Amino acid sequence: MHLRHGGIIPDIARDLHSSSVEPVVSETLQQARVTMDDIAAIAVTLKPGLPLSLVVGMKYAKHLARKYNKPIIPIHHMEAHALVARMQHNIEFPYLTLLISGGHCLLAVVEDVIQFKLLGESIDMAPGEMFDKVARRMKLRNIPEFAQMCGGQAVEVAGSRATNPHLFKLPLPLADYKDCNFSFNGLKTSVLLHLHRKEKEHQITADKLIPEVNDLCAAMLMATSRHLVHRTQRAMEFCQQNNLIPDSKKQLIVSGGVACNNYIFNALSLLCHEFNYQIYRPTPKLCTDNGVMIAWNGLEKWRRGLDIVTDLNTLDIEGN
Ligand code: KG4
Ligand code: ZN
Repeated sequence: MHLRHGGIIPDIARDLHSSSVEPVVSETLQQARVTMDDIAAIAVTLKPGLPLSLVVGMKYAKHLARKYNKPIIPIHHMEAHALVARMQHNIEFPYLTLLISGGHCLLAVVEDVIQFKLLGESIDMAPGEMFDKVARRMKLRNIPEFAQMCGGQAVEVAGSRATNPHLFKLPLPLADYKDCNFSFNGLKTSVLLHLHRKEKEHQITADKLIPEVNDLCAAMLMATSRHLVHRTQRAMEFCQQNNLIPDSKKQLIVSGGVACNNYIFNALSLLCHEFNYQIYRPTPKLCTDNGVMIAWNGLEKWRRGLDIVTDLNTLDIEGN
Protein backbone atom coordinates (compact mmCIF):
# COMPACT_ATOMS: atom_id res chain seq x y z
CA MET A 1 0.00 0.00 0.00
CA HIS A 2 2.75 2.44 0.99
CA LEU A 3 4.83 1.62 -2.10
CA ARG A 4 1.80 2.40 -4.25
CA HIS A 5 1.53 5.83 -2.63
CA GLY A 6 5.25 6.51 -3.07
CA GLY A 7 5.88 6.69 0.69
CA ILE A 8 4.07 6.54 4.01
CA ILE A 9 1.06 8.86 4.22
CA PRO A 10 0.20 9.21 7.95
CA ASP A 11 -3.61 9.08 7.48
CA ILE A 12 -3.40 5.97 5.34
CA ALA A 13 -0.99 4.34 7.80
CA ARG A 14 -3.42 5.07 10.66
CA ASP A 15 -6.37 3.56 8.75
CA LEU A 16 -4.35 0.43 7.90
CA HIS A 17 -3.33 0.08 11.55
CA SER A 18 -6.95 0.47 12.67
CA SER A 19 -8.26 -2.17 10.31
CA SER A 20 -5.37 -4.61 10.94
CA VAL A 21 -4.65 -4.49 14.66
CA GLU A 22 -7.56 -6.62 15.86
CA PRO A 23 -7.29 -9.39 13.19
CA VAL A 24 -3.48 -9.54 13.60
CA VAL A 25 -3.74 -10.01 17.37
CA SER A 26 -6.48 -12.63 17.22
CA GLU A 27 -4.82 -14.58 14.39
CA THR A 28 -1.54 -14.55 16.31
CA LEU A 29 -3.18 -15.87 19.46
CA GLN A 30 -4.91 -18.56 17.41
CA GLN A 31 -1.74 -19.64 15.61
CA ALA A 32 0.19 -19.74 18.90
CA ARG A 33 -2.71 -21.72 20.45
CA VAL A 34 -2.95 -19.37 23.43
CA THR A 35 -5.71 -17.26 24.93
CA MET A 36 -5.57 -13.95 26.78
CA ASP A 37 -5.47 -16.00 30.02
CA ASP A 38 -1.95 -17.14 29.05
CA ILE A 39 -0.77 -13.57 28.50
CA ALA A 40 0.95 -11.89 31.46
CA ALA A 41 1.19 -8.35 30.15
CA ILE A 42 0.76 -6.30 26.97
CA ALA A 43 3.79 -4.60 25.43
CA VAL A 44 3.08 -1.65 23.15
CA THR A 45 5.22 0.96 21.37
CA LEU A 46 4.68 4.50 22.63
CA LYS A 47 7.55 6.26 20.79
CA PRO A 48 9.20 7.19 18.49
CA GLY A 49 7.09 6.91 15.33
CA LEU A 50 4.11 8.41 13.54
CA PRO A 51 1.83 9.65 16.35
CA LEU A 52 -1.34 8.77 14.39
CA SER A 53 -0.26 5.14 14.11
CA LEU A 54 1.11 4.93 17.66
CA VAL A 55 -2.22 6.10 19.04
CA VAL A 56 -4.02 3.20 17.34
CA GLY A 57 -1.69 0.67 18.98
CA MET A 58 -1.87 2.35 22.38
CA LYS A 59 -5.68 2.56 22.38
CA TYR A 60 -6.02 -1.08 21.38
CA ALA A 61 -3.49 -2.14 24.04
CA LYS A 62 -5.44 -0.18 26.67
CA HIS A 63 -8.69 -1.75 25.49
CA LEU A 64 -7.22 -5.26 25.88
CA ALA A 65 -5.60 -4.38 29.20
CA ARG A 66 -8.92 -3.16 30.66
CA LYS A 67 -10.95 -6.02 29.23
CA TYR A 68 -8.60 -8.76 30.49
CA ASN A 69 -7.16 -6.93 33.49
CA LYS A 70 -3.53 -6.99 32.34
CA PRO A 71 -0.71 -4.49 32.93
CA ILE A 72 0.88 -2.63 30.04
CA ILE A 73 4.62 -2.45 29.33
CA PRO A 74 5.49 0.67 27.28
CA ILE A 75 8.22 0.13 24.68
CA HIS A 76 10.63 2.50 22.94
CA HIS A 77 10.79 1.51 19.25
CA MET A 78 14.59 1.98 18.97
CA GLU A 79 15.32 0.12 22.20
CA ALA A 80 13.35 -2.81 20.78
CA HIS A 81 15.53 -2.75 17.61
CA ALA A 82 18.61 -2.76 19.86
CA LEU A 83 17.50 -5.67 22.06
CA VAL A 84 15.87 -8.19 19.72
CA ALA A 85 19.19 -9.76 18.67
CA ARG A 86 19.31 -11.17 22.24
CA MET A 87 16.32 -13.32 21.35
CA GLN A 88 18.33 -15.15 18.67
CA HIS A 89 21.90 -14.98 19.99
CA ASN A 90 23.56 -15.32 23.35
CA ILE A 91 24.59 -11.67 23.76
CA GLU A 92 25.36 -10.26 27.20
CA PHE A 93 25.35 -6.62 28.28
CA PRO A 94 27.07 -4.28 27.65
CA TYR A 95 27.39 -4.12 23.85
CA LEU A 96 27.68 -1.57 21.08
CA THR A 97 24.71 -1.13 18.75
CA LEU A 98 24.35 0.58 15.38
CA LEU A 99 20.70 1.21 14.49
CA ILE A 100 20.10 2.12 10.86
CA SER A 101 16.57 2.51 9.56
CA GLY A 102 14.23 4.76 7.59
CA GLY A 103 13.79 7.15 10.51
CA HIS A 104 16.97 6.79 12.57
CA CYS A 105 20.70 6.37 12.54
CA LEU A 106 22.41 6.05 15.91
CA LEU A 107 25.25 4.46 17.83
CA ALA A 108 24.70 3.52 21.46
CA VAL A 109 26.10 1.35 24.22
CA VAL A 110 23.39 -0.96 25.53
CA GLU A 111 24.24 -1.28 29.22
CA ASP A 112 21.06 -3.03 30.30
CA VAL A 113 17.43 -3.49 29.27
CA ILE A 114 16.55 0.11 30.09
CA GLN A 115 20.03 1.65 30.18
CA PHE A 116 21.39 3.09 26.95
CA LYS A 117 24.31 5.47 26.42
CA LEU A 118 23.81 7.40 23.19
CA LEU A 119 27.16 8.01 21.45
CA GLY A 120 25.93 9.70 18.29
CA GLU A 121 23.07 10.08 15.83
CA SER A 122 22.21 11.58 12.47
CA ILE A 123 22.21 15.37 12.35
CA ASP A 124 19.86 15.35 9.35
CA MET A 125 18.27 12.34 7.66
CA ALA A 126 18.46 8.57 8.14
CA PRO A 127 20.16 6.26 5.59
CA GLY A 128 16.90 4.42 4.77
CA GLU A 129 15.21 7.74 4.03
CA MET A 130 18.09 8.63 1.69
CA PHE A 131 17.81 5.28 -0.12
CA ASP A 132 14.02 5.63 -0.45
CA LYS A 133 14.20 9.20 -1.77
CA VAL A 134 17.03 8.53 -4.22
CA ALA A 135 15.42 5.29 -5.47
CA ARG A 136 12.23 7.20 -6.18
CA ARG A 137 14.10 9.95 -8.00
CA MET A 138 16.05 7.34 -10.03
CA LYS A 139 12.68 5.74 -10.96
CA LEU A 140 13.93 2.30 -9.91
CA ARG A 141 10.32 1.13 -9.47
CA ASN A 142 9.87 1.35 -13.23
CA ILE A 143 11.96 -1.83 -13.45
CA PRO A 144 9.25 -4.49 -12.92
CA GLU A 145 11.30 -6.72 -10.61
CA PHE A 146 11.89 -3.72 -8.29
CA ALA A 147 8.23 -2.68 -8.16
CA GLN A 148 7.53 -4.48 -4.86
CA MET A 149 10.85 -3.62 -3.18
CA CYS A 150 11.51 -0.79 -0.76
CA GLY A 151 14.02 1.80 -1.94
CA GLY A 152 16.94 0.39 0.07
CA GLN A 153 16.52 -3.12 -1.25
CA ALA A 154 16.19 -1.89 -4.85
CA VAL A 155 19.41 0.13 -4.49
CA GLU A 156 21.17 -2.94 -3.07
CA VAL A 157 20.13 -5.20 -5.97
CA ALA A 158 20.85 -2.55 -8.62
CA GLY A 159 24.25 -1.83 -7.03
CA SER A 160 25.19 -5.52 -7.10
CA ARG A 161 24.84 -5.37 -10.91
CA ALA A 162 27.27 -2.49 -11.37
CA THR A 163 29.87 -2.88 -14.10
CA ASN A 164 31.87 0.17 -13.03
CA PRO A 165 31.30 0.82 -9.31
CA HIS A 166 34.04 3.50 -9.28
CA LEU A 167 32.49 5.62 -12.04
CA PHE A 168 30.99 8.15 -9.59
CA LYS A 169 32.91 9.83 -6.80
CA LEU A 170 30.96 10.63 -3.63
CA PRO A 171 32.14 12.46 -0.49
CA LEU A 172 32.79 10.99 2.97
CA PRO A 173 30.38 12.90 5.26
CA LEU A 174 31.72 14.56 8.44
CA ALA A 175 35.21 13.31 7.60
CA ASP A 176 36.89 15.91 9.82
CA TYR A 177 34.62 15.54 12.85
CA LYS A 178 35.90 13.34 15.65
CA ASP A 179 32.51 12.38 17.02
CA CYS A 180 30.01 9.59 16.37
CA ASN A 181 27.35 11.60 14.54
CA PHE A 182 26.12 10.91 11.02
CA SER A 183 24.94 12.98 8.07
CA PHE A 184 23.30 11.76 4.86
CA ASN A 185 21.95 14.98 3.38
CA GLY A 186 25.15 15.89 1.53
CA LEU A 187 25.51 12.36 0.20
CA LYS A 188 21.95 12.42 -1.09
CA THR A 189 22.53 15.79 -2.81
CA SER A 190 25.75 14.53 -4.45
CA VAL A 191 23.96 11.45 -5.81
CA LEU A 192 21.10 13.58 -7.15
CA LEU A 193 23.57 15.96 -8.84
CA HIS A 194 25.27 13.04 -10.62
CA LEU A 195 21.84 11.75 -11.62
CA HIS A 196 20.77 15.11 -12.96
CA ARG A 197 24.01 15.51 -14.94
CA LYS A 198 23.62 12.08 -16.54
CA GLU A 199 19.94 12.69 -17.34
CA LYS A 200 20.94 15.83 -19.21
CA GLU A 201 23.84 14.13 -20.94
CA HIS A 202 21.61 11.29 -22.20
CA GLN A 203 18.60 13.56 -22.72
CA ILE A 204 16.53 11.28 -20.51
CA THR A 205 12.81 12.00 -20.35
CA ALA A 206 9.72 10.71 -18.51
CA ASP A 207 9.96 7.11 -17.26
CA LYS A 208 13.44 6.26 -18.55
CA LEU A 209 16.37 5.48 -16.23
CA ILE A 210 19.96 6.57 -16.82
CA PRO A 211 22.09 3.74 -18.29
CA GLU A 212 24.60 4.08 -15.41
CA VAL A 213 21.93 3.60 -12.71
CA ASN A 214 23.58 0.42 -11.35
CA ASP A 215 26.95 2.14 -11.06
CA LEU A 216 25.41 5.09 -9.25
CA CYS A 217 23.66 2.74 -6.78
CA ALA A 218 26.96 0.92 -6.16
CA ALA A 219 28.70 4.24 -5.50
CA MET A 220 25.97 5.20 -3.03
CA LEU A 221 26.25 1.85 -1.22
CA MET A 222 30.01 2.23 -1.02
CA ALA A 223 29.85 5.82 0.28
CA THR A 224 27.15 4.92 2.84
CA SER A 225 29.19 1.95 4.06
CA ARG A 226 32.36 4.04 4.36
CA HIS A 227 30.49 6.62 6.45
CA LEU A 228 28.88 4.01 8.72
CA VAL A 229 32.20 2.18 9.16
CA HIS A 230 34.05 5.44 9.84
CA ARG A 231 31.63 6.46 12.63
CA THR A 232 31.39 2.95 14.10
CA GLN A 233 35.19 2.79 14.28
CA ARG A 234 35.11 6.10 16.14
CA ALA A 235 32.57 4.61 18.58
CA MET A 236 34.77 1.55 19.14
CA GLU A 237 37.73 3.80 19.92
CA PHE A 238 35.62 5.91 22.26
CA CYS A 239 34.40 2.78 24.10
CA GLN A 240 38.00 1.60 24.44
CA GLN A 241 39.24 4.96 25.77
CA ASN A 242 36.41 5.19 28.30
CA ASN A 243 36.27 1.51 29.29
CA LEU A 244 32.61 1.27 28.28
CA ILE A 245 32.89 -2.26 26.93
CA PRO A 246 35.30 -4.83 28.45
CA ASP A 247 37.59 -6.77 26.07
CA SER A 248 35.62 -9.96 26.71
CA LYS A 249 32.34 -8.33 25.59
CA LYS A 250 33.35 -6.62 22.35
CA GLN A 251 30.13 -7.10 20.40
CA LEU A 252 28.43 -4.98 17.73
CA ILE A 253 24.72 -5.46 17.09
CA VAL A 254 23.46 -3.95 13.83
CA SER A 255 19.70 -3.61 13.45
CA GLY A 256 16.91 -1.60 11.77
CA GLY A 257 15.71 -2.02 8.16
CA VAL A 258 19.00 -0.90 6.57
CA ALA A 259 20.82 -3.67 8.49
CA CYS A 260 19.25 -6.09 5.95
CA ASN A 261 21.75 -4.69 3.43
CA ASN A 262 24.47 -7.28 2.90
CA TYR A 263 26.92 -4.85 1.33
CA ILE A 264 26.76 -2.61 4.39
CA PHE A 265 26.85 -5.55 6.81
CA ASN A 266 29.93 -7.02 5.10
CA ALA A 267 31.73 -3.68 5.35
CA LEU A 268 30.93 -3.52 9.07
CA SER A 269 32.05 -7.15 9.47
CA LEU A 270 35.51 -6.22 8.13
CA LEU A 271 35.75 -3.41 10.68
CA CYS A 272 34.72 -5.79 13.47
CA HIS A 273 37.34 -8.30 12.37
CA GLU A 274 39.97 -5.55 12.55
CA PHE A 275 38.86 -4.39 16.02
CA ASN A 276 38.25 -7.86 17.47
CA TYR A 277 34.48 -7.36 17.80
CA GLN A 278 31.86 -10.07 17.30
CA ILE A 279 29.15 -8.81 14.94
CA TYR A 280 25.49 -9.86 15.03
CA ARG A 281 22.30 -8.83 13.29
CA PRO A 282 18.79 -10.19 13.70
CA THR A 283 17.29 -12.10 10.74
CA PRO A 284 15.87 -9.71 8.07
CA LYS A 285 12.28 -10.08 9.33
CA LEU A 286 13.40 -8.93 12.78
CA CYS A 287 15.65 -6.13 11.44
CA THR A 288 12.78 -4.26 9.79
CA ASP A 289 9.89 -3.01 11.93
CA ASN A 290 8.02 -5.93 13.49
CA GLY A 291 5.85 -6.83 16.44
CA VAL A 292 8.09 -9.64 17.71
CA MET A 293 10.79 -7.18 18.80
CA ILE A 294 8.20 -5.24 20.81
CA ALA A 295 7.01 -8.44 22.50
CA TRP A 296 10.62 -9.48 23.19
CA ASN A 297 11.41 -6.12 24.78
CA GLY A 298 8.25 -6.53 26.88
CA LEU A 299 9.46 -9.95 28.00
CA GLU A 300 12.93 -8.61 28.91
CA LYS A 301 11.29 -5.91 31.08
CA TRP A 302 8.74 -8.34 32.56
CA ARG A 303 11.48 -10.75 33.70
CA ARG A 304 13.19 -7.88 35.55
CA GLY A 305 9.99 -6.27 36.83
CA LEU A 306 10.68 -3.04 34.92
CA ASP A 307 8.14 -0.54 33.54
CA ILE A 308 5.06 -2.61 34.38
CA VAL A 309 2.20 -0.11 34.33
CA THR A 310 -1.18 -0.78 35.92
CA ASP A 311 -2.49 2.80 36.01
CA LEU A 312 -3.35 3.08 32.31
CA ASN A 313 -4.20 6.78 32.57
CA THR A 314 -0.49 7.57 32.93
CA LEU A 315 0.22 6.25 29.41
CA ASP A 316 0.16 8.61 26.45
CA ILE A 317 1.84 9.24 23.11
CA GLU A 318 4.51 11.92 23.39
CA GLY A 319 5.18 12.15 19.63
CA ASN A 320 8.81 11.77 18.56
O1 KG4 B 1 13.41 -0.31 10.58
P1 KG4 B 1 12.48 -0.08 9.42
O2 KG4 B 1 11.63 -1.23 8.98
O3 KG4 B 1 11.51 1.12 9.68
C1 KG4 B 1 11.90 2.26 10.35
O4 KG4 B 1 11.85 2.26 11.60
O5 KG4 B 1 12.32 3.20 9.62
O6 KG4 B 1 13.41 0.42 8.19
C2 KG4 B 1 12.86 0.72 6.94
C3 KG4 B 1 13.98 1.22 6.05
C4 KG4 B 1 13.48 1.75 4.69
O7 KG4 B 1 13.99 3.05 4.50
C5 KG4 B 1 14.08 0.77 3.69
O8 KG4 B 1 14.41 1.36 2.44
C6 KG4 B 1 15.31 0.27 4.42
O9 KG4 B 1 14.91 0.17 5.76
N1 KG4 B 1 15.77 -1.03 3.93
C7 KG4 B 1 16.96 -1.22 3.33
C8 KG4 B 1 17.01 -2.58 2.94
N2 KG4 B 1 15.83 -3.17 3.31
C9 KG4 B 1 15.09 -2.20 3.93
N3 KG4 B 1 17.98 -0.36 3.11
C10 KG4 B 1 19.06 -0.85 2.48
N4 KG4 B 1 19.17 -2.14 2.04
C11 KG4 B 1 18.18 -3.03 2.26
N5 KG4 B 1 18.30 -4.28 1.85
ZN1 ZN C 1 12.22 0.78 13.07
